[in-house]
Amino acid sequence: MTRSSAPGKIYLFGEHAVVYGEPAVPCAIERRARVDVERREDSKLRVRAEDLSLDGFTVEYGGGTDGRPDIDVPNELVEAAMGYVDGAIEQVREVTGESEAGFDVTIESDIPLGAGLGSSAAVVVAAIDAATRELGVTLSTDELAERAYQTELDVQEGQASRADTFCSATGGAVRVEGSDCQSITAPDLPLVIGFDGGAGDTGALVAGVRSLRSEYDFAAETVSSIGDIVRRGETALENADVEELGRLMNFTHGLLSALGVSSRSLDSMVWAAREAGAHGAKLTGAGGGGCIVALDPTPETETALRYLPGCEEVFRAEMAEEGVRRLE
Ligand code: PMV
Repeated sequence: MTRSSAPGKIYLFGEHAVVYGEPAVPCAIERRARVDVERREDSKLRVRAEDLSLDGFTVEYGGGTDGRPDIDVPNELVEAAMGYVDGAIEQVREVTGESEAGFDVTIESDIPLGAGLGSSAAVVVAAIDAATRELGVTLSTDELAERAYQTELDVQEGQASRADTFCSATGGAVRVEGSDCQSITAPDLPLVIGFDGGAGDTGALVAGVRSLRSEYDFAAETVSSIGDIVRRGETALENADVEELGRLMNFTHGLLSALGVSSRSLDSMVWAAREAGAHGAKLTGAGGGGCIVALDPTPETETALRYLPGCEEVFRAEMAEEGVRRLE
């Protein structure tokens, strides 16, 4: 049996604009998906997911009597998570040349599904890493990131950037621009995450921005303004200027709202964080629902979000220095 884990991520800057060639800066966080893989005698794939959870969001899949998940999370999300594992195993069969290999796969994740924290990328990275090692092949981090990206591309029908998968495979903060992915240095950031318990439909949100951008000049300009902010954000990261980073996060949230990808609950979490004295706050990922990220070294934002109706979970996130972790 082999076991690997991989972290989720937040976007400090650049979501949506990255789709149009602007740079983005995601950062891995210490919330992980763990995947155990055991080779089977036959060529079947059996997937079992336990604890695809953030407190209060427990998914049992494959363990129930009728085989249906018993959960609060929309069923399509759980089925999507299973689709990613199928895709990951296809990549493993291809890269190892063992087209008939079968596996028992068990997933555990403490990254909420579809909430902008890169849960699918973490599952895919950990699954590919564990399953290749189960067949005696250890991939380089770059190859792992590439195979994970190909999986997302297949499952999401051509709509994926390299940001999530590269960040999850390598850990730390990264800069992604088109196919160019690099690790960058970042200071320890006082990250607070608020989760509204929901999820956005990434494909629909990306399509919405695309049509807005083709119809209105302001939307095209907004996308390039997000890119300008990313470049300023890189300088602020180099200078460890947390106040400037917060300001730039606030600007980004405003621009993403103008593109129509925020929501009432995301806005109210962002405002609660700002009013509590955070340096800044923004939605993270595709939007529509899910998570915000705020910068606050004090406990004030956590307290404010904990008591905010509409915020289901709040937690402080450490940056994950390490990407994929080989556990067994
Ligand atoms: O919500 P997430 O973590 O899947 O992030 C989506 C980020 C987008 O820029 C909106 C799309 C993409 O593939 O980069």
